[in-house]
Amino acid sequence: MLGRVEILTTVAAAQSQAKSKPRVLVPTMGALHKAHGELTKVARERAGADGEVAVSIFVNPLQFEPRSDYERYPRPEKADEDFCRDAGVDLLFRPSIEEMYFDDRSTFVEEISLSSVLEGKSRPGHFRGVCTVVAKLFNVLTPDAAVFGEKDFQQLAIVRRMVRDLNFNIDIIAVPTVREEDGLACSSRNQYLNLEERKQATVLHKALLAAANASEKSARDIVDLARKMIGAAPLAQIDYVELVDAETLQPVEMVRPNSLLALAVFFGKTRLIDNILLA
Ligand code: PAJ
Repeated sequence: MLGRVEILTTVAAAQSQAKSKPRVLVPTMGALHKAHGELTKVARERAGADGEVAVSIFVNPLQFEPRSDYERYPRPEKADEDFCRDAGVDLLFRPSIEEMYFDDRSTFVEEISLSSVLEGKSRPGHFRGVCTVVAKLFNVLTPDAAVFGEKDFQQLAIVRRMVRDLNFNIDIIAVPTVREEDGLACSSRNQYLNLEERKQATVLHKALLAAANASEKSARDIVDLARKMIGAAPLAQIDYVELVDAETLQPVEMVRPNSLLALAVFFGKTRLIDNILLA
Protein backbone atom coordinates (compact mmCIF):
# COMPACT_ATOMS: atom_id res chain seq x y z
CA MET A 1 0.00 0.00 0.00
CA LEU A 2 1.42 3.35 -0.96
CA GLY A 3 1.01 5.97 1.72
CA ARG A 4 1.68 9.67 1.73
CA VAL A 5 5.05 10.93 2.84
CA GLU A 6 5.22 14.44 4.15
CA ILE A 7 8.45 15.96 2.88
CA LEU A 8 10.02 18.75 4.90
CA THR A 9 13.08 20.55 3.63
CA THR A 10 13.60 23.30 6.20
CA VAL A 11 14.42 23.37 9.88
CA ALA A 12 11.71 25.99 10.40
CA ALA A 13 9.05 23.75 8.85
CA ALA A 14 10.13 20.81 11.00
CA GLN A 15 10.22 22.85 14.18
CA SER A 16 6.92 24.61 13.63
CA GLN A 17 5.15 21.31 13.16
CA ALA A 18 3.50 20.32 16.41
CA LYS A 19 4.37 16.73 17.20
CA SER A 20 1.26 14.96 18.41
CA LYS A 21 2.32 11.31 18.13
CA PRO A 22 5.31 9.28 19.23
CA ARG A 23 8.02 9.71 16.62
CA VAL A 24 10.78 7.29 15.70
CA LEU A 25 13.61 8.64 13.58
CA VAL A 26 15.86 6.81 11.13
CA PRO A 27 18.77 9.12 10.28
CA THR A 28 20.35 8.35 6.88
CA MET A 29 22.42 9.85 4.11
CA GLY A 30 20.03 8.52 1.46
CA ALA A 31 20.73 6.15 -1.44
CA LEU A 32 18.35 3.99 0.52
CA HIS A 33 18.69 0.22 0.31
CA LYS A 34 17.50 -2.99 1.93
CA ALA A 35 19.20 -2.23 5.25
CA HIS A 36 17.56 1.18 5.55
CA GLY A 37 14.29 -0.62 4.81
CA GLU A 38 14.94 -2.91 7.75
CA LEU A 39 15.62 0.10 9.97
CA THR A 40 12.32 1.72 8.98
CA LYS A 41 10.54 -1.57 9.70
CA VAL A 42 11.99 -1.63 13.19
CA ALA A 43 11.06 2.05 13.55
CA ARG A 44 7.47 1.22 12.63
CA GLU A 45 7.33 -1.63 15.14
CA ARG A 46 8.48 0.80 17.80
CA ALA A 47 6.23 3.68 16.72
CA GLY A 48 3.14 1.52 16.30
CA ALA A 49 0.46 2.03 13.66
CA ASP A 50 -0.54 5.37 15.20
CA GLY A 51 2.98 6.63 15.73
CA GLU A 52 5.16 8.41 13.23
CA VAL A 53 8.19 7.06 11.36
CA ALA A 54 10.53 9.83 10.26
CA VAL A 55 13.50 9.38 7.94
CA SER A 56 16.12 12.04 7.49
CA ILE A 57 18.26 12.20 4.39
CA PHE A 58 21.26 14.46 4.58
CA VAL A 59 24.69 13.82 3.09
CA ASN A 60 26.60 15.42 5.90
CA PRO A 61 29.75 17.18 4.66
CA LEU A 62 31.11 17.41 8.21
CA GLN A 63 31.67 13.68 8.47
CA PHE A 64 33.56 13.28 5.20
CA GLU A 65 37.29 13.88 5.24
CA PRO A 66 38.77 16.28 2.71
CA ARG A 67 39.33 14.61 -0.68
CA SER A 68 37.03 11.71 0.20
CA ASP A 69 33.85 10.63 -1.57
CA TYR A 70 31.55 13.47 -0.45
CA GLU A 71 31.08 14.83 -3.98
CA ARG A 72 30.43 11.47 -5.57
CA TYR A 73 28.24 10.09 -2.77
CA PRO A 74 25.01 8.94 -4.52
CA ARG A 75 21.99 11.23 -4.20
CA PRO A 76 19.06 9.50 -5.97
CA GLU A 77 16.33 11.87 -4.78
CA LYS A 78 13.38 10.45 -6.64
CA ALA A 79 14.24 6.81 -5.90
CA ASP A 80 14.69 7.68 -2.20
CA GLU A 81 11.31 9.39 -2.13
CA ASP A 82 9.66 6.33 -3.70
CA PHE A 83 11.52 4.10 -1.26
CA CYS A 84 10.12 6.05 1.69
CA ARG A 85 6.63 5.94 0.25
CA ASP A 86 6.81 2.17 -0.26
CA ALA A 87 8.25 1.69 3.23
CA GLY A 88 5.30 3.52 4.80
CA VAL A 89 7.43 6.39 6.11
CA ASP A 90 5.31 9.28 7.42
CA LEU A 91 7.84 12.09 7.40
CA LEU A 92 10.90 12.68 5.25
CA PHE A 93 13.25 15.42 6.42
CA ARG A 94 15.59 16.36 3.59
CA PRO A 95 17.32 19.66 4.28
CA SER A 96 19.91 21.43 2.14
CA ILE A 97 23.41 22.12 3.45
CA GLU A 98 22.50 25.79 3.93
CA GLU A 99 19.58 24.75 6.14
CA MET A 100 21.79 22.62 8.35
CA TYR A 101 24.99 24.64 8.60
CA PHE A 102 25.64 28.33 9.01
CA ASP A 103 28.76 29.49 7.17
CA ASP A 104 30.15 30.77 10.46
CA ARG A 105 29.14 27.77 12.58
CA SER A 106 31.39 27.40 15.59
CA THR A 107 29.72 24.78 17.78
CA PHE A 108 30.32 21.06 17.40
CA VAL A 109 29.54 17.92 19.38
CA GLU A 110 32.53 15.73 20.04
CA GLU A 111 32.78 12.41 21.83
CA ILE A 112 36.40 11.92 22.72
CA SER A 113 36.87 8.39 24.04
CA LEU A 114 35.12 5.83 21.81
CA SER A 115 35.93 8.05 18.82
CA SER A 116 39.67 7.73 19.23
CA VAL A 117 39.95 4.15 17.94
CA LEU A 118 39.08 2.08 14.82
CA GLU A 119 37.24 4.37 12.35
CA GLY A 120 38.17 7.41 14.39
CA LYS A 121 41.87 6.69 13.95
CA SER A 122 41.53 6.21 10.20
CA ARG A 123 39.07 9.06 9.69
CA PRO A 124 39.94 11.97 11.98
CA GLY A 125 36.98 14.29 12.55
CA HIS A 126 34.49 11.77 11.19
CA PHE A 127 32.64 11.14 14.44
CA ARG A 128 32.66 14.80 15.37
CA GLY A 129 30.74 15.31 12.14
CA VAL A 130 28.41 12.40 12.92
CA CYS A 131 27.71 13.54 16.51
CA THR A 132 27.14 17.13 15.45
CA VAL A 133 24.64 16.23 12.75
CA VAL A 134 22.86 13.58 14.82
CA ALA A 135 22.50 16.01 17.73
CA LYS A 136 21.09 18.61 15.35
CA LEU A 137 18.64 16.10 13.85
CA PHE A 138 17.55 15.13 17.36
CA ASN A 139 16.96 18.78 18.24
CA VAL A 140 15.11 19.58 15.03
CA LEU A 141 12.92 16.48 14.88
CA THR A 142 12.58 15.69 18.62
CA PRO A 143 12.10 11.93 18.18
CA ASP A 144 11.17 9.65 21.08
CA ALA A 145 13.46 6.96 19.68
CA ALA A 146 16.02 6.66 16.90
CA VAL A 147 17.20 3.59 15.00
CA PHE A 148 20.81 2.84 14.04
CA GLY A 149 22.49 -0.16 12.38
CA GLU A 150 25.12 -2.41 13.90
CA LYS A 151 27.05 -2.38 10.63
CA ASP A 152 28.38 0.95 11.91
CA PHE A 153 28.96 -0.50 15.34
CA GLN A 154 31.24 2.26 16.54
CA GLN A 155 28.83 4.96 15.37
CA LEU A 156 26.05 3.26 17.32
CA ALA A 157 28.20 3.10 20.47
CA ILE A 158 29.18 6.75 20.13
CA VAL A 159 25.60 7.90 19.57
CA ARG A 160 24.55 5.99 22.68
CA ARG A 161 27.34 7.65 24.64
CA MET A 162 26.38 11.10 23.36
CA VAL A 163 22.72 10.51 24.26
CA ARG A 164 23.75 9.46 27.77
CA ASP A 165 26.28 12.22 28.31
CA LEU A 166 24.09 15.03 26.95
CA ASN A 167 20.79 13.76 28.41
CA PHE A 168 18.89 13.42 25.17
CA ASN A 169 15.58 11.86 26.14
CA ILE A 170 15.69 9.49 23.18
CA ASP A 171 15.84 5.69 23.09
CA ILE A 172 18.48 4.32 20.76
CA ILE A 173 17.45 1.12 19.01
CA ALA A 174 20.05 -1.13 17.35
CA VAL A 175 19.39 -3.23 14.24
CA PRO A 176 21.64 -6.17 13.30
CA THR A 177 23.68 -5.88 10.11
CA VAL A 178 21.65 -6.57 6.98
CA ARG A 179 23.53 -8.48 4.29
CA GLU A 180 23.23 -9.32 0.62
CA GLU A 181 22.65 -12.98 -0.18
CA ASP A 182 26.37 -13.62 -0.50
CA GLY A 183 27.07 -12.10 2.90
CA LEU A 184 28.35 -8.66 1.89
CA ALA A 185 26.96 -6.06 4.29
CA CYS A 186 24.55 -3.75 2.47
CA SER A 187 26.04 -0.30 1.99
CA SER A 188 25.37 2.70 -0.23
CA ARG A 189 29.05 2.48 -1.13
CA ASN A 190 28.75 -1.04 -2.59
CA GLN A 191 27.58 0.52 -5.83
CA TYR A 192 31.07 2.01 -6.35
CA LEU A 193 32.52 -1.50 -6.64
CA ASN A 194 33.22 -2.88 -10.10
CA LEU A 195 32.25 -6.46 -10.85
CA GLU A 196 35.55 -7.98 -9.79
CA GLU A 197 35.78 -5.87 -6.61
CA ARG A 198 32.20 -6.76 -5.74
CA LYS A 199 32.97 -10.45 -6.14
CA GLN A 200 36.08 -10.28 -3.99
CA ALA A 201 34.40 -8.17 -1.30
CA THR A 202 32.48 -11.24 -0.15
CA VAL A 203 35.73 -12.31 1.54
CA LEU A 204 35.03 -9.85 4.37
CA HIS A 205 32.05 -11.66 5.81
CA LYS A 206 33.70 -15.03 5.16
CA ALA A 207 36.74 -13.91 7.15
CA LEU A 208 34.56 -12.64 10.00
CA LEU A 209 32.65 -15.93 10.14
CA ALA A 210 35.87 -17.95 10.05
CA ALA A 211 37.22 -15.88 12.93
CA ALA A 212 34.01 -16.34 14.89
CA ASN A 213 34.18 -20.12 14.42
CA ALA A 214 37.91 -20.49 14.99
CA SER A 215 39.30 -22.38 17.94
CA GLU A 216 42.03 -19.76 18.32
CA LYS A 217 41.21 -17.33 21.08
CA SER A 218 44.12 -14.91 21.15
CA ALA A 219 43.61 -11.59 19.41
CA ARG A 220 46.83 -12.10 17.45
CA ASP A 221 45.75 -15.45 16.03
CA ILE A 222 42.20 -14.34 15.28
CA VAL A 223 43.34 -11.17 13.57
CA ASP A 224 46.02 -13.11 11.67
CA LEU A 225 43.48 -15.60 10.44
CA ALA A 226 41.13 -12.87 9.21
CA ARG A 227 43.98 -10.90 7.63
CA LYS A 228 45.28 -13.95 5.76
CA MET A 229 41.86 -14.75 4.33
CA ILE A 230 41.27 -11.17 3.27
CA GLY A 231 44.80 -10.89 1.92
CA ALA A 232 44.10 -13.80 -0.41
CA ALA A 233 41.72 -11.52 -2.34
CA PRO A 234 44.12 -9.70 -4.67
CA LEU A 235 42.13 -6.44 -4.77
CA ALA A 236 41.77 -6.13 -0.98
CA GLN A 237 43.85 -3.53 0.84
CA ILE A 238 43.40 -3.86 4.57
CA ASP A 239 43.08 -0.64 6.58
CA TYR A 240 42.60 -2.39 9.92
CA VAL A 241 41.39 -5.64 11.48
CA GLU A 242 41.05 -5.34 15.26
CA LEU A 243 39.67 -7.28 18.16
CA VAL A 244 38.15 -4.93 20.74
CA ASP A 245 35.78 -4.96 23.66
CA ALA A 246 32.31 -4.15 22.30
CA GLU A 247 31.56 -1.81 25.22
CA THR A 248 34.74 0.24 25.45
CA LEU A 249 36.08 -0.44 21.92
CA GLN A 250 39.50 -0.85 23.50
CA PRO A 251 41.75 -3.64 22.16
CA VAL A 252 41.58 -6.97 23.98
CA GLU A 253 44.24 -9.68 23.94
CA MET A 254 41.92 -12.67 24.16
CA VAL A 255 38.43 -13.33 22.89
CA ARG A 256 36.07 -12.94 25.83
CA PRO A 257 32.35 -12.37 26.16
CA ASN A 258 31.32 -9.35 24.15
CA SER A 259 34.40 -9.06 21.96
CA LEU A 260 34.02 -7.40 18.59
CA LEU A 261 36.10 -8.11 15.52
CA ALA A 262 35.96 -4.99 13.37
CA LEU A 263 37.56 -4.30 10.02
CA ALA A 264 37.94 -1.74 7.28
CA VAL A 265 39.20 -2.82 3.88
CA PHE A 266 39.64 -1.00 0.57
CA PHE A 267 38.63 -2.55 -2.71
CA GLY A 268 40.00 -0.09 -5.23
CA LYS A 269 39.00 3.35 -3.95
CA THR A 270 36.02 1.99 -2.03
CA ARG A 271 36.42 1.55 1.70
CA LEU A 272 34.13 -1.04 3.27
CA ILE A 273 33.60 -1.74 6.97
CA ASP A 274 32.13 -4.74 8.70
CA ASN A 275 32.20 -6.41 12.11
CA ILE A 276 31.07 -9.42 14.07
CA LEU A 277 30.48 -10.06 17.74
CA LEU A 278 32.50 -12.98 19.07
CA ALA A 279 31.44 -15.10 22.01
P1 PAJ B 1 23.97 5.83 6.35
O1 PAJ B 1 25.27 5.25 5.93
O2 PAJ B 1 22.99 6.24 5.30
O3 PAJ B 1 23.28 4.80 7.31
C1 PAJ B 1 22.06 5.10 7.92
C2 PAJ B 1 21.76 4.04 8.95
O4 PAJ B 1 21.66 2.78 8.30
C3 PAJ B 1 22.90 3.90 9.99
O5 PAJ B 1 22.35 3.71 11.27
C4 PAJ B 1 23.64 2.67 9.51
O6 PAJ B 1 24.30 1.97 10.56
C5 PAJ B 1 22.49 1.85 8.95
N1 PAJ B 1 22.98 0.84 8.01
C6 PAJ B 1 23.64 1.03 6.84
N2 PAJ B 1 23.95 -0.16 6.28
C7 PAJ B 1 23.48 -1.12 7.12
C8 PAJ B 1 23.47 -2.55 7.11
N3 PAJ B 1 24.02 -3.23 6.12
N4 PAJ B 1 22.89 -3.19 8.15
C9 PAJ B 1 22.32 -2.51 9.18
N5 PAJ B 1 22.30 -1.17 9.24
C10 PAJ B 1 22.86 -0.47 8.22
O7 PAJ B 1 25.27 6.15 9.02
C11 PAJ B 1 24.96 7.16 8.42
O8 PAJ B 1 24.22 7.14 7.26
C12 PAJ B 1 25.34 8.55 8.90
O9 PAJ B 1 26.56 8.49 9.58
C13 PAJ B 1 24.25 9.22 9.80
C14 PAJ B 1 24.00 8.42 11.07
C15 PAJ B 1 22.94 9.38 9.01
C16 PAJ B 1 24.74 10.63 10.21
O10 PAJ B 1 25.01 11.41 9.11
